[in-house]
Amino acid sequence: MLVLGIETTCDETSCAVVRDGVEILSNVIYSQIDIHSKFGGVVPELACRHHIDAISHVLTEALHKANVTLQEIDLIAVAKGPGLIGALLIGIHFAKALAWSLKKPIVGVNHVEAHLYAAIMSQPQPASLPALGVVLSGGHTSLVHMHGIGNYSLLGETVDDAIGEAFDKTAKILGLGYPGGPIIEKLAKKGNPKRFAFKAGQVKGRELDFSFSGIKTAVYYTIKDMQLSQDDICDVAASFQEAVFFDVLRKTELAIAVAGIEAIYLGGGVTQNSYLRELFQSKCPTACFWPKGDLCLDNAAMIAGLGYHMSHSESPFSIEPETRIPFHK
Ligand code: KG4
Ligand code: ZN
Repeated sequence: MLVLGIETTCDETSCAVVRDGVEILSNVIYSQIDIHSKFGGVVPELACRHHIDAISHVLTEALHKANVTLQEIDLIAVAKGPGLIGALLIGIHFAKALAWSLKKPIVGVNHVEAHLYAAIMSQPQPASLPALGVVLSGGHTSLVHMHGIGNYSLLGETVDDAIGEAFDKTAKILGLGYPGGPIIEKLAKKGNPKRFAFKAGQVKGRELDFSFSGIKTAVYYTIKDMQLSQDDICDVAASFQEAVFFDVLRKTELAIAVAGIEAIYLGGGVTQNSYLRELFQSKCPTACFWPKGDLCLDNAAMIAGLGYHMSHSESPFSIEPETRIPFHK
């Protein structure tokens, strides 16, 4: 079964063709990072305009790379949320128009669930479920109990900033570029993680929830009156990264104990971080599965992959954008 995936939830325009939920024939990602980086974050109106300009070209390239025609596609899977409303509308209307004109079935896919599916489709072996899902992205930080593909319940989530957002905001405070994650990772390699005692927030009575808004404020007050040298910046980056990743590790270990499972699937842009991967591989006793390559980022292959597993009785007109989709507790 050939599934065409379409992803426009934030600032990547992506189309992919995936066979039977796992075999990626193409995964074309047009990133708008260069457009948004000069503003220090994603500008929603600009993201929408660039999705409109890019999406037809991205689709043509995805079909070309996969060496298939639109007529050969069996199902269209589109990210229906969570995301920016204008950005979602572009992908959804594009997908609806394709489905209606080609008389193809269509399914709306949860972008956050797809980030976890990215780790599943990256492995040669079938998923080990039930498992713990750890979503670490620019918009989300969640611990979920994965009972089966697409059947998840929430164990913990951030009550304020997402982890990637905390990287981006901390980088901004340090006068570094956007997105902050890759820059902080690079500088942290040269820094002393023990120099500053930063701490991620704890939520009273909810030990599996996260809070990352306080740590960026702590960074701000720590450096406010300092004349920062390059070594100081590296030390701040390393101390910040250490604090947030040890917080994620500790809560992941707690969640494993609570849920009693034997595998962890991680997903989202922050999982590109090699220090995070080393930390989990060395300290976490449970098998960890990561998305490979481009599947860490926002991409349409994960949307097509998860879409394959979902029932697709929806008419093109029943899919609506959902800017927030809570996991059920
Ligand atoms: O999953 P993603 O592409 O978009 C969302 O769905 O949010 O994640 C983007 C986020 C950004 O906040 C970015 O700073 C962060 O992922 N990120 C990283 C790294 N690469 C990207 N964070 C830490 N270390 C990295 N190497
Ligand atoms: Zn994402």
